[in-house]
Amino acid sequence: MTKTILLLAGDGIGPEVTAQSRRVIEHLNHDHGSDVAIDNALFGGAAIDAAGVPIEDATVARALASDAVLLGAVGGPQWAEAAYNVRPEAGLLRLRTAMNVFANLRPALCFEALADESTLKREYIDGLDIMFVRELVGGVYFNTPRGIEDMGSGKRRGINTQNYTSDEIIRVARVGFELARKRSGRLCSVEKSNVMESGLLWREEVTALGASDYSDVELSHMYADNCAMQLVRAPKQFDVILTDNLFGDLLSDAAAMLTGSLGMLPSAALGDAGAPGLYEPIHGSAPDIAGKDIANPCASILSLAMALRSSLGRPDLAETVEHAVARTLADGYRTADLAGGSHLVGTSAMGDAILARL
Ligand code: IPM
Ligand code: MG
Repeated sequence: MTKTILLLAGDGIGPEVTAQSRRVIEHLNHDHGSDVAIDNALFGGAAIDAAGVPIEDATVARALASDAVLLGAVGGPQWAEAAYNVRPEAGLLRLRTAMNVFANLRPALCFEALADESTLKREYIDGLDIMFVRELVGGVYFNTPRGIEDMGSGKRRGINTQNYTSDEIIRVARVGFELARKRSGRLCSVEKSNVMESGLLWREEVTALGASDYSDVELSHMYADNCAMQLVRAPKQFDVILTDNLFGDLLSDAAAMLTGSLGMLPSAALGDAGAPGLYEPIHGSAPDIAGKDIANPCASILSLAMALRSSLGRPDLAETVEHAVARTLADGYRTADLAGGSHLVGTSAMGDAILARL
């Protein structure tokens, strides 16, 4: 049965890295028996320039009608001064909400060939394999009241609101518990219940769910500040980390850097079973290196692998793609963001090397 993937290349290096993922899809269709149709639309700054909004209604509809959405990257200095609702990032938040992708899976995986590239010593990160489950459609990113209000006499107040309902906590916690069950059986839930009621509710709901449905999973709790410290002190203590939208944003960036390679890390945002997933590299649009054919396409290609596994019904091909990327690194191919190796290559040549190993 034909599956459809919507490519939203976006801005900056997004189009370049997504182009390599497109080549991988075409190759898999041709040589590995997959049947994935590719659709495209403008997104982010590119959509603002063309249509005045970061994502058009028709694009949202196409995303909802597809099996998976593969995003490049959004944003750039030319759109950074606009109001929040017409910035490229607003398109991303709108898409996450419309697709209701409440569970954001962000692996922080250290590739063997890159274990010497981290800012941490090899012994701390060699074999590192953490999976973040970040709540993605609630919390302070979305709650109201929000805004900047005039307090009179030239003073203003900036407002954002953090809240979580039991249902929002439980549905994402389930994803965390299920993943922990498939991995090492350990889940660490992260919040600030020492100062925040939303964090206290988070802890209570996760604890209750663990006791009722997942007593086989070893559950621990950690304050977010301590988690930040533990991630750089002894990152291998973690397996699955479950946390809210804002803490997940911060902690997953820190963990990504441990692997020495922001350009290597994919992510998957998932909603209810059977609904389309949203897949994107962790890295941003990197406008400073856009258009130079030097960006690393691996995070995009590995995001495609996650889509093959979770939305396109081909977990076997997900592994094929992941192995091809690991082999390419082991054979010494590196884009400029990665040190070491024996062949310094550009974006499309990295794509060539990966395709050759597929
Ligand atoms: C991320 C990004 C986004 C976020 C921005 C671009 C809105 O930092 O996916 O981590 O904060 O969620
Ligand atoms: Mg972020």
